[in-house]
Amino acid sequence: MPKFAHDAIVPDENSLQQKKHQVAGMFDQIAGRYDFLNGFLSIGIDKAWRKKAVDQLRASAPREILDVATGTGDMALLLWKRLRPQHVTGIDISEKMLAIGREKIRDKGLETSIELLSGDSERIKFSENSFDAVTVAFGVRNFEHLEQGLREMHRVLRPGGKLVVLEFSQPSLKIFRGLYRFYMGVVAPLIVQLFSKNKKAYQYLDKSARAFPEGAGFLNIMHEAGFTQTYLKTLSLGICTIYCGSK
Ligand SMILES: C[S@@+](CC[C@H](N)C(=O)[O-])C[C@H]1O[C@@H](n2cnc3c(N)ncnc32)[C@H](O)[C@@H]1O
Repeated sequence: MPKFAHDAIVPDENSLQQKKHQVAGMFDQIAGRYDFLNGFLSIGIDKAWRKKAVDQLRASAPREILDVATGTGDMALLLWKRLRPQHVTGIDISEKMLAIGREKIRDKGLETSIELLSGDSERIKFSENSFDAVTVAFGVRNFEHLEQGLREMHRVLRPGGKLVVLEFSQPSLKIFRGLYRFYMGVVAPLIVQLFSKNKKAYQYLDKSARAFPEGAGFLNIMHEAGFTQTYLKTLSLGICTIYCGSK
């Protein structure tokens, strides 16, 4: 039995595959259009959200950073650009998303500073206390076992290290929430269909965002996974939230 409702939300309810394989397959399918659609659907605000998330790490000046569910590497590149750490490692379960990310890193000549590896958040292939900071942007709601993913991120953090999670949330203002849900649930999947024929993928993203245990609920789950000094910051009237915690 899944521990949280959103753990059971899958891209294709008719598929017999476990969530992780379905999610990896879905991102493999949309990888080529992921960056374009992200920017288009969020009218570019996603970049500002990632910057705000990265800036939560400024004070601690981390040297070794792990970016979980790194996808096409935008967060990993931004971490490098804004914080100039010694090294950034990104992991993801979608090979096609990683391939696009690696191309961007190669184009910028940053192969020695940023490395993207195939890897699962629920079984991170690094020993404990390996990183000064861990980030995950728009990734946690795709995990098959949320708490296991958080425990793993806690394990690989050094004592005193910080986790920064960026994730969609539901706006608190009622009228705005209605408009936002209509946009995400109806308009966005239709726009996506024009470009990628993969309406289902964006319907899944909307469903999983709605079922996600957000706000104080998510901070509680972080506590249970071992994090302390947790706090959250809502962005853009609550469409997005940054969650932070320390080891
Ligand atoms: C919405 S994308 C976010 C990509 C990137 N972080 C960004 O900010 O654009 C979610 C990513 O999470 C990855 N993902 C989902 N479950 C994962 C897991 N268990 N371990 C690692 N990556 C995972 C997917 O393959 C996908 O690339």
